Amino acid sequence: MNRTLNIAHRGFSGKYPENTMMAFRKAVEVGADGIETDLHMTSDGIIVICHDETIDRTTNGSGFIKDYTYDEIRKFDAGKGEKIPNLDELLNFMKNKNLLLNLELKNDVVNYNNLEKDTINKIYEYGLEKNVIISSFNHQSMKRVKQYDSSIRTGLLYGSPICKPEEYAKQMGADALHPLFSLVMNQDVVHDIKKSGILINVYTVNKEDEMKKLIELGIDGIITNYPNILKKLFG
Ligand code: G3P
Ligand code: MG
Repeated sequence: MNRTLNIAHRGFSGKYPENTMMAFRKAVEVGADGIETDLHMTSDGIIVICHDETIDRTTNGSGFIKDYTYDEIRKFDAGKGEKIPNLDELLNFMKNKNLLLNLELKNDVVNYNNLEKDTINKIYEYGLEKNVIISSFNHQSMKRVKQYDSSIRTGLLYGSPICKPEEYAKQMGADALHPLFSLVMNQDVVHDIKKSGILINVYTVNKEDEMKKLIELGIDGIITNYPNILKKLFG
């Protein structure tokens, strides 16, 4: 059995400005096995990295990402002088590293045209198709990913209980479930999912005792703001 993977949520966001190149570099420096990050699209169709639909909370600017061109959005400060990265910068940083990259499509509020297709094409440009898992709270979008390219791995994000999640994942053609961690803090639930061959990557686990319990349960990946704390648990 593979050991639980240490996936840095928005990079090493517990200590550095979330979803910036600085946070991604620091996550790799402390030994994360992978990075989770969030994708949106500018008005001129450039895929950029940010959690919210707007830039209000994480930069010195305000307004919706969809309403800015890429050049306009680069003028804002995302913390410590960092800019909102584009997807190319992150893919370029991740290539040849053999780490996991979890790209979360943030298309459950704004419907970005071609976000699935454009993201997949970029992944191939950098040769990262084996390293990537695409996830979203928008499960229709994960179906579109599989329709476009069935070999790209997908994960279904959810924050409230579902009945027989492994059966749902199979129906949707997904490779993984990405639940809120508290939904799978249970041996039977984990057992049924693992038996079905569906992967389980949980979000967002920041407490050491919870990390330990999830490792014992055999969870495939833990998404955390503190990859440094999780790393220490592996010795
Ligand atoms: O992908 C895991 C987690 O990031 C999902 O929630 O809101 O932090 O993007 P959120
Ligand atoms: Mg996310």
